[in-house]
Formats: sequence, C-alpha cells, structure tokens
Amino acid sequence: MDLEKICLEVCELAKETGSFIRNEARKFSTDMVEVKGSNNFVSYVDKTSEKKIIEGLSKLLPGSGFIAEEETTKESEAVFQWIIDPLDGTTNFIHGLPPYAISIALMEGKDIVLGVVYEIFASECFYAWKDSKAYLNGKEIQVSKSAKISDSLIATGFPYYDYSLVKPFLDSLNYFFVNSHGVRRIGSAATDIAYVACGRFDAFYEYGLHAWDVAAGSIILKQAGGKVSDFKGGENCIFGSEYIASNSNIYSEFLEIVNKFLSR
Ligand code: IPD
Ligand code: CA
Ligand code: CA
Repeated sequence: MDLEKICLEVCELAKETGSFIRNEARKFSTDMVEVKGSNNFVSYVDKTSEKKIIEGLSKLLPGSGFIAEEETTKESEAVFQWIIDPLDGTTNFIHGLPPYAISIALMEGKDIVLGVVYEIFASECFYAWKDSKAYLNGKEIQVSKSAKISDSLIATGFPYYDYSLVKPFLDSLNYFFVNSHGVRRIGSAATDIAYVACGRFDAFYEYGLHAWDVAAGSIILKQAGGKVSDFKGGENCIFGSEYIASNSNIYSEFLEIVNKFLSR
C-alpha cells in the first residue's frame, strides 16, 4: 500500500471539508448547537463534516472500517480502520474562537500508520505516515529542543465531564505555573499535539480524551521526533484516555511529574 499517496489524498479531503467548516463558521449562531451531554456540544457542522469525510475515505480505501465521534462508526472486522474527529474544538467553533481542526488517522491492526490534523482557521495541515518525516503544509517539522521543563511551554485540556481528578490536576497546574514557561489551554487536543510536533509547545497532557482526539496527532508527533504515552509511561494512550506527549529530551521529566500528580 502506498501510504504517502493515501496520506496526501487524506490531506486534500481534510482541506476540502475544512473549507466547508470555514464557510459555515461565517453564518453559525449558538441557536444551532445541540447538547450531547454535560459541556459536550455538537451541530450539523460536525455531523456534515463527518459524512463528507467518511464518503471520501470510503472511496479512497474501500472496505475499511470507521471509528468516528459523531456515531457513523461502522463495526467492522477490517484490518484498516479510520479514526476520525470531524471537528475537534467544537466549543471553540461555536464561540467563533480558533483553533479547531479535523483529525483523521488510519489504523492497520493495532498500529496507527498515517495521521492528518488540519487546523482550519489558520489552514495548517500537519501530516505523517509510517516511516516518513512529519510535515506542516509541505515543510518538514520537528519537535522543540528544550531539555528541561523549566525551559518548556506546557499545553493541556481542562476536565469537562470526568471530574474525578480535578484536585490532583489543579495541583499539577500549580506545579507547572511555578516550574515552566507557563501553561496554555487552546481547546483542541488534536491541534495541541500537532503544535508539540512542530515545536510551538514542548509538552501536552490531558485525561478524559478519546481515540479520535489523539490518534492522528500521535503519529505526526512520533515522526517529528517526539514521544507519547499514558500517565504511567505505557502504550495505552490512544484508547486509554490518559495522554502525554512531549519532545524526547523532556519526556522522562514530564512523565515523572504527570505520573506523580495524576496516576490512578
Ligand atoms: C475536545 C477538544 C478539547 C479537549 C476535549 C475534547 P471536541 O474535543 O479536543 O481541547 O479538551 O477533551 O473532547 O469535543 O471539541 O471534539
Ligand atoms: Ca475531539
Ligand atoms: Ca469533535
């Protein structure tokens, strides 16, 4: 299979679908929002985006399965499964605030073999495939070179439905306020990870995430020289809801801190 060719076609599909989302953003108003659950919103924009992406991917790789946020998931025994977030950063989108992104990964068996994160507002397409470099709009990207947390900018996401770790999470924030360049919460986990891949952030952590938030970003980050894991340093971070990502230099220090505060 020519992963490079497929990856570049997925980039085009993400950009086309991103244009649709960008156009809808101009006429969107908050009365178009549906509430899925506590602080969990959706609209026709997320759903139409997912439909467009699934139509495109079905043509690209007939017979593949789908794990997609807005419930067009098709149970499948297929070796190839697409993992899709059709709009990551919906809360940002409905408030007219960037960033928001499309996240598409391809999984072969248990391995993620390609990933595309398209941040719509700035039209930045981050992508990589197995054994490739990582790219942003055609240019190679790499993680930052920071060697210590004290020289690093940390990104995170705030708990919004699972409040079981709020206290230790606030303690971890407190630690990073004092011991790093600072903490950012930009509202799109896929974009957070892509920004670690290109060196804007040095590290990212969040609990309560889903596979569609992190699968694409993870391969982009690894191919850019970074590391990802769960809060114990294990591999259960795509489907396991605990997620850390950083450049390789600070990974051990970052893991130790996150683990100290947040490991269950
Ligand atoms: C959310 C965003 C947000 C993160 C949440 C995600 P959605 O995705 O990635 O940054 O903090 O955990 O659920 O709901 O906008 O697709
Ligand atoms: Ca998401
Ligand atoms: Ca979403």
